[in-house]
Amino acid sequence: MKKIVFATNNVHKLQELRQMLGDRYEILGLADIGCHEEIPETADFIEENAQMKARYVKEKYGYDCFSDDTGLEIDALGGEPGVHSARYAGPGHNSEANIDKVLLKLDGVTERTARFRTAIALLQGDEMHMFEGQVEGIILTERHGTGGFGYDSIFQPIEGDGSTFAQMSPQEKNRISHRGRAVARLVEFLNSQ
Ligand code: IMP
Repeated sequence: MKKIVFATNNVHKLQELRQMLGDRYEILGLADIGCHEEIPETADFIEENAQMKARYVKEKYGYDCFSDDTGLEIDALGGEPGVHSARYAGPGHNSEANIDKVLLKLDGVTERTARFRTAIALLQGDEMHMFEGQVEGIILTERHGTGGFGYDSIFQPIEGDGSTFAQMSPQEKNRISHRGRAVARLVEFLNSQ
């Protein structure tokens, strides 16, 4: 089985990939290769951040690697929070504070279109392959639903029945989500090799 690292510590993301790739690849997480340091994510674009993480793992640990990075792009905010989505309200990764900041900035704004975009960078040998997934939607004026994470409770995808991501089951969300789509493209590529 070919070994490949997914540059994440998120157990849920790892499980999902392992299920989708069957038994052709052994997917290792960062903990599995003894990588416990914080990998720098300091670029201005999600694509560069994903590439930066994949290169870091390859150079330091020698494994082929893929890495994902996601941003929520709100048109009325010029594409913010974008690459800064995780820490929009400041250091500390607090999703509730991030949502509050978005709602405040959009107070009274009627143009509320937005999209989630995920970039996946796969570094195999010295070849970098990129995969993208996105989903269009609107930012609601208040939270709806309790599932999911991050900005899910204020993001209503255009496709669907008017539910936010936080009101959908994980399966429903994955079917149309930015990350679900990017991952499907990665899996299709890996399974065609
Ligand atoms: P990451 O690159 O997957 O770590 O995502 C960066 C940030 O974007 C997260 O910390 C969340 O705030 C936000 N985000 C990413 N994916 C989602 C999602 O599916 N729903 C809601 N927020 C998300």
